[in-house]
Amino acid sequence: MSNSRYQRSTEFLNHAESRIPLGSQTFSKSRTQYPVGISPLFMHKAKGCHTWDIDGNKYIDLVSSLASVTLGYQNPAVNTAVRKQLGMGTIFSLPGKLEYEVAEKIVDLVPSAELVRFGKNGSDATSAAIRIARAYTGRTIVAVCGYHGWQDWFIGSTSRNKGVPKEISDLTKTFAFNNLQSLSEIFKSNSGNVAAVILEPMNSTWPIEGFLSEIRRMCSENGTLLIFDETITGFRFAKGGAQELFNIIPDLTTLGKGLANGLPLSAVVGKREIMGEMSEIFFSCTFGGELLSLAAANEVLRMYQQEDITDRLTVAGELLSELTNEEIVKHNLHEVLSLSGHPTWKFLNWRDHESATALEIKTYFMQECFREGILVLGTHNVTTKHTKKIVKEIAKAYSKIFAKIAMKLKSNQLIDSLEVEPLVPLFKVR
Ligand SMILES: Cc1ncc(COP(=O)(O)O)c(C=O)c1O
Repeated sequence: MSNSRYQRSTEFLNHAESRIPLGSQTFSKSRTQYPVGISPLFMHKAKGCHTWDIDGNKYIDLVSSLASVTLGYQNPAVNTAVRKQLGMGTIFSLPGKLEYEVAEKIVDLVPSAELVRFGKNGSDATSAAIRIARAYTGRTIVAVCGYHGWQDWFIGSTSRNKGVPKEISDLTKTFAFNNLQSLSEIFKSNSGNVAAVILEPMNSTWPIEGFLSEIRRMCSENGTLLIFDETITGFRFAKGGAQELFNIIPDLTTLGKGLANGLPLSAVVGKREIMGEMSEIFFSCTFGGELLSLAAANEVLRMYQQEDITDRLTVAGELLSELTNEEIVKHNLHEVLSLSGHPTWKFLNWRDHESATALEIKTYFMQECFREGILVLGTHNVTTKHTKKIVKEIAKAYSKIFAKIAMKLKSNQLIDSLEVEPLVPLFKVR
């Protein structure tokens, strides 16, 4: 069934899929996440915290391009820096000085950073970190916890592992967040052969007391490198990322989404001695020193250094969480919905109800949010443009939507109110 509000999106999907598998370059932006018929599928423009779809509908954007935008779309200072660089060249035949300038700023901000190398995607950085760890330790096994990108070494350990040789998948062992026992077992059964432990220092839940410090200790004791994947948490949880917030210093860190306010840049950083392996391994890409992203990062990082950006993100996220929780209580929805995680990257956790499954409720929630002009997937990815006024607008829309959810669940009508088939379970790594 097609809703006329999304007519152009829905029609364009057919064109896009005739040339582009899934019609999207990013899994999380594809129709696998946005049910066709009740969702915008293609965007046309974005500014501040707003985005417009190709049907002309306007949304408050809580996805923030998968948390890659922290300062709002089209941040004027970042745009000016990018335009200036555009007039000087987007890439050179030899490295530009900007690489050094941006590296200096990262070293200033991120506690574990002594040396820096750039990539384009988070997956470049995590894969480089794993290669360094294997080179440095001469070992093969890696322990993972969270999402670390599309490359064989990680995705082979998930249920979406088609195309990855078993020999590769077998080298990656998954442990559970806040479960030290699960990591201990990996150390025990691969004694002397664990090259790296890589984890998101936090995603949907806070680390319990001693979790990160004990992992730090276990890694040091076993001669294993500790890698924090701060692709999302970097420059979001604190100026220096989650490692600053929790005061645990990893050996290597990967950074990405917070670096250049939506321009493609990632980095692997770490201790001088370990990063020295970079001269011996092969990590090299044509666009690694591309200058528009570096110009953006130079300005973004200057703002992180000189302004209270992360505090502002936290304040906005806290207010949104507080008002959302008030609405959950007001509509008696706490059995089906709870929030978890850091205020700047808050997860919405849906649970089954006797009259509808979690995915059915989530699909209905998305249907109604999109109708009300709120673009939200599974998390609140706030930016500095999510002002108090905007947050109150979101809460007002939630109030209306939560009232409907509560009423429909009670009267057993939620499933009948779905205008499309509900979302189906996808591979889950968090
Ligand atoms: C924690 C984390 N690590 C790595 C990645 C991979 O980054 P990219 O999609 O830029 O390759 C992501 C992307 O969502 C991520 O959230």
